[in-house]
This record gives sequence, C-alpha cells and structure tokens, in this order.
Amino acid sequence: MPLAPPTVRPRNPRFSSGPCAKRPGWSPKVLSDAWLGRSHRAKGGKAKIVEVIARSRAILGIPDDYRLGIVPASDTGAVELALWTLLGARGVDMLAWESFGKAWATDAAKQLKLDDIRTIQAEYGKLPDLGEVDRMRDVVFTWNGTTSGVRVPNGDWIADNRGGLTICDATSAVFDMDLPWDKLDAVTWSWQKALGGEAAHGMLVLSPRAVERLEQYRPPWPLPKIFRLTKDGKLNEDIFTGATINTPSMLCVEDALDSLRWAEEVGGQPALIARAEANLAMVTEWVVARDWVDFLAEDPASRSCTSICLKIVDPWFLALSVPEQAAAVKAMVTRVADAEAGYDIGSHRDAPPGLRLWGGATVAREDMEALLPWLDWAYSEVKAT
Ligand SMILES: Cc1ncc(COP(=O)(O)O)c(C=O)c1O
Repeated sequence: MPLAPPTVRPRNPRFSSGPCAKRPGWSPKVLSDAWLGRSHRAKGGKAKIVEVIARSRAILGIPDDYRLGIVPASDTGAVELALWTLLGARGVDMLAWESFGKAWATDAAKQLKLDDIRTIQAEYGKLPDLGEVDRMRDVVFTWNGTTSGVRVPNGDWIADNRGGLTICDATSAVFDMDLPWDKLDAVTWSWQKALGGEAAHGMLVLSPRAVERLEQYRPPWPLPKIFRLTKDGKLNEDIFTGATINTPSMLCVEDALDSLRWAEEVGGQPALIARAEANLAMVTEWVVARDWVDFLAEDPASRSCTSICLKIVDPWFLALSVPEQAAAVKAMVTRVADAEAGYDIGSHRDAPPGLRLWGGATVAREDMEALLPWLDWAYSEVKAT
C-alpha cells in the first residue's frame, strides 16, 4: 500500500547539486547594484572583482602567500587551466572514483597524452587507496566526488615534504568542508556550488610551489589565451589582483558578492560547515531508520555533507534490471518534483541509479527535514505501481 502524501513541503524545494540552491532570502533585488554596461577594467568594476577575491580569501582562510584569481569557464575551466599549465613536468597520479575524477584522468591521458600517468581508481561508493599516491609525483584529485557523494576524509595522506604538486578540484567541497591549504597547491571551484552563485567563472588558488612550477616549466602543447597565466616567463600577477584574462559577467560578480556577504553574516566558514553537516546528520538519521535506502558512500568517514548520494537497497528494487532501476528512480524523482516537494534529486547520469540531495550550506535544515518524508511516499508509490 502506498503511503499518504506528506502535508508539509520544503519552503525551498531546490536540492540540485549544481547550480545549487541560492542562499535563503535571495531575490534578484540583490543584483541592483551590479556594475552593468560599464567596463570591468574601470575603477568601480575592478573594485568589485577585487572584493570577490578578498572576501573569498578571508572566509576560507587562504594563506597570504597563495594567489587567488577568477578565471573563465566555471570549475571545468579552472581545472583544465591548471592541468594544461602545470602537468607534464613530472609523473602524475590521477585519482578517480566518480565521473569528474574520471574526466580529469581522461584529459591527462587522451588530450594531454602524458606518458607517465598512473590512474588510481575506485568504484562508485568507495575511495581509492590514498596510500598509493607517490609524494614525488603530481596528484590530481576531486576533494568531494559530486556524483558519488564520496569525499576524502582529510589531507593526512598528502606529504608535507612532497616533491609533486597537489591539484584539487574542490568545487563541491569548498566553503562547506575544511580544506588544508598547506597541503594543496592548485585548488579550483565555481560560484555555482556551495554558495549558490552563478556558473560561468572559476576560482583558482595557487600555492607558491605551483607558481614556481608555472615560472620554471613550459608545457610542450599550445595554450589558448584563456589558459595563459604567465607573461615573459613570470606569473601574470594582474590576473590575481582583479584584472581577469577576459571579460567576466558583472551580474555574476554581483551575485557572488551577495553570496559571500551572506556567508559572512551567518558566521563564516565554521557556520557554513555546520549547516552542511547538520543536513548530513538529518539525512543519516532518516536513512538508519529505513531499510529501503542507504548511502552510496560505504565509509561514514568519507560521506559527503554536500552531494548526499543514496542507493535503494530494497530486494524488490535490487531484483530489477539496471534500466528498470533507472526508470523506477526517474518515476520517483518525477513524483517528488510534480508535488513541488523537491527538484533535481536524481543521481548523476554517470552514477548508479539512485538519489542525490544537495545538503550544502544554502539548503536550510528544515527544508531537508521536510523533503525526506516525500521520498518515503514517492518510493512507496513507485513500488506499488
Ligand atoms: C567535482 C566537480 N568538478 C567539476 C564540475 C564541473 O563544474 P562546472 O560545470 O561548474 O564547470 C562539477 C560540477 O558539478 C563537479 O561537481
């Protein structure tokens, strides 16, 4: 027998893993002071870009000797910029345990065609053996695997006295998880994730060692203009002091500023992390009380508090073929969306059929709490039909 539908809906039913929910209270009015129709290189426009960099740096506690800049093409642009400019000087370990890590490993093998690559992999739900990473090689990894909900638990596996660089795609981790900056040499993210900003631009952090690599190493492949970080063999510092490589959207810049001010108002990074962890705790309490659903991430220590991925473990569901499972999940997701109780909660197209709930800081705990009974209801309906 299907359950009766719940009566309470989340106030904000947005649970997408990107673009993620805007911060509570957001409205287009926050953009009213945007620097529109004016040059981003004029004093007022540049000041806004500099402010994004300064506020991000302060909230995240990025060390003073690390560079932080805005680059084109969202997180993908920032990651590929880092791969194309930094890789090739030494062997590289590519860590891949879900779709995005696999994409970066493909870039290294098939596009850059590096000859000394080790791909250290794991299946959806698991982390690869981090102990296999060689401190003398570069390593490329995703802090939080957005499509499997598996994150690295910490940076203890990264050597302080490493010879290689650590290149970290942190787009679904930064702000909502604590990053050990001293262990990371190149870090990237997009505004569209943790703080609910807009896509289009990427953020790129470089450690002094990454800058040294850029200045001492010239990759053998051509670099498009939007990947070039050096000028006459020296780091182009302008990029990290508000002079972007090409024209940014000043509407997105204004929106990013709003999200950063909100992050400060709620209490900075500790508060953002607490909000995300509270969402994970809420989902955990719900999962352990049910026998039809479980986390995709096997080890609680590496369970994501942002992209919370769930698998269905009911024998009825497990007996279905994979296409039937995908159809059943789709029917569930559609029911929840049609009821206006939760949008975009299906797993990523590359992941096993299941659910994915964004639990980052912009999602209110009450909304997560209100969503969960709708999942029970939708599952009971789909199973009954
Ligand atoms: C880990 C990770 N890397 C890269 C991307 C791509 O980000 P974007 O579409 O902002 O370039 C995403 C998007 O979800 C992601 O989760």
